[in-house]
Amino acid sequence: MIVRPRLAAGLAAGVMAAGLALAGAASAEPHKVIFDTDFGMVPQDDGYALMLALHSPELEILGITTVAGNWSLEQGTADVLRLLEIAKREDIPVYAGANMPLMHEPSEYARTTYGSWWSDAPATPPPGGFAAKQAESLGAVEYIIDTVESQPGEVTILAIGPLTNVAMALRHAPGLAAKVKQLVIMGGAVAFLPDGAGNMTPGAEFNFWVDPEAAKIVLRSGIPIQLSPLNVSRKSNMNRGWFEKLVAVETPFTKLIRERGGRLYEDDPELVVHMYDQIAVASLIDPSLVTTTELYVDVDANPGISYGTSLGSPRLWPGAEGARKIAVQHELDWVRFIEMFIERVAQPIP
Ligand code: RIB
Ligand code: CA
Repeated sequence: MIVRPRLAAGLAAGVMAAGLALAGAASAEPHKVIFDTDFGMVPQDDGYALMLALHSPELEILGITTVAGNWSLEQGTADVLRLLEIAKREDIPVYAGANMPLMHEPSEYARTTYGSWWSDAPATPPPGGFAAKQAESLGAVEYIIDTVESQPGEVTILAIGPLTNVAMALRHAPGLAAKVKQLVIMGGAVAFLPDGAGNMTPGAEFNFWVDPEAAKIVLRSGIPIQLSPLNVSRKSNMNRGWFEKLVAVETPFTKLIRERGGRLYEDDPELVVHMYDQIAVASLIDPSLVTTTELYVDVDANPGISYGTSLGSPRLWPGAEGARKIAVQHELDWVRFIEMFIERVAQPIP
């Protein structure tokens, strides 16, 4: 059964400030973050991205909101709850969000190509079994609205999946955009810049392709945006050498990473994989890791061969009226990034 996203009942305030677990917290105030994710366990990038965020004192994760994308909503929610349990961070509340994009109907192509956003299959047990804690009864969209409205100008939304939850929050709460501090988004591929081909279709990146209408609403919202598209992801090179450094010391995180990701490098020792959501998180922790350029970016939400394709240009062009200038990441200091990533993810869990 396909169910369109809907608002869950209740509008109770849902802000919970998570304590920072690591020593050496940054001197500046941490970014207050809503972590919006189409979560999957490592070796999926959302899993790695959350590990990095949890071990970064520059970020205070207020709550995690889940959305259908890589997996069904149920699977992503079950997996993120389990990772928080492994991390001993059950204090961070999880809110389930949209189980389908705004408009995108699952096609044969969607069902047979990467990603299970169209699925309504129940979740299978995460590694080690289902977490004891469940998602909050409040829905993700209400949580985003309540949290931003109760702390105007203070909350950053870190969105690393399809933008359905964020778009719905903006549609349901007029004026919300002006109260969001900033949005950091993993999504899109910008052909105007090098390495700008799509990964789901020739032009479209996965997150934007799953929900192009949502991406268009969010990019046009006027919120200050840092876009982390495939252009910058493709500057990363996670090979076996870096992987072995990551899992050299055993912790609950690195054990999980080795168990679930090590096989990839055993099967193909020359394998090099890109990092996606991890770079978006890292760019919020340390913006000097990436180089950005200001472009108008808009998304094609018309059905057809370019559905979900993002286009960028220093100047507005016909049809893109209403598009906004945003910061688009395109270069990465790979070595500094991966060294920081390994050092943090491999930290012991207290
Ligand atoms: O295109 C990369 C994006 O889609 C990332 O968010 C990753 O999780 C993938 O599913
Ligand atoms: Ca993702």
